[in-house]
Amino acid sequence: MSDAAIQLQDVSKRFRLAHHPVATLKGAVASFWKRRFEDLWALKSLSLEVPRGQTLAVVGRNGSGKSTLLGLIGRIYLPTAGHIEIHGRVAALLELGAGFHPDLTGEQNVLLNGVILGMRERDVRKSLDDIIHFAELEKFRDAPLRSYSAGMTMRLGFAVAVFTDPQILLIDEVLAVGDQAFQAKCLREIQRFQESGRTIVFVSHDLDTVRRVSGRAIWLHEGALRADGDPEAVVKEYLSATA
Ligand SMILES: Nc1ncnc2c1ncn2[C@@H]1O[C@H](COP(=O)(O)OP(=O)(O)OP(=O)(O)O)[C@@H](O)[C@H]1O
Ligand SMILES: [Mg+2]
Repeated sequence: MSDAAIQLQDVSKRFRLAHHPVATLKGAVASFWKRRFEDLWALKSLSLEVPRGQTLAVVGRNGSGKSTLLGLIGRIYLPTAGHIEIHGRVAALLELGAGFHPDLTGEQNVLLNGVILGMRERDVRKSLDDIIHFAELEKFRDAPLRSYSAGMTMRLGFAVAVFTDPQILLIDEVLAVGDQAFQAKCLREIQRFQESGRTIVFVSHDLDTVRRVSGRAIWLHEGALRADGDPEAVVKEYLSATA
């Protein structure tokens, strides 16, 4: 068996962009005969192998395909073409609040998400106090999620992801909304993950964190791989191209 945690072979992802809501009946009839969708290739023939235990950072401009890549690895999306293999249980910390329900309380959301991420309900119940404590949200445990701030939502998501103890952790950006103290806590937790040989893929516009935390970085540009390798070198190349 190969030692890769994540393998992508010639993976492409197409989204269909709907165009122009039509204002008139005539327009509606006319546009019925025309193409109403535009193809948007968010990823173009990407091949990538992430060895077990590696921390891979993904950088690139807005719209370059970073979240799409994480969504494919986390099986939120299916690839339009190509082949993806994942070895190990994945926990994904994607867009803020994704997977959370605004009307449920913090505690109910933890239960729901723990189960979605593959834990048994009774194990989530056992860890409930620890998860809420890690997130430092004791006071808001019984409040509906819609009354949480962005940072509080992220804390809860991060706490659940960490406690499900995945082999592969995906983090899309969200850490940036945490305050200094909580970010430091997250980084310590990420380090603990690294030390225990877990695989991490994270997207960040914070290039200092990329340099500090990752063992390898890739730069995506318009859905294609532009650079791959030592984080210092990749960040430098990315910066000099976008300056
Ligand atoms: N669900 C979707 N439906 C249609 N188009 C989408 C969808 N998700 C992403 N796209 C398009 O795919 C392209 C890549 O988007 P993606 O979210 O992967 O970018 P990103 O690199 O994560 O950007 P950012 O730095 O802003 O988070 C963009 O052009 C975007 O408009
Ligand atoms: Mg994104």
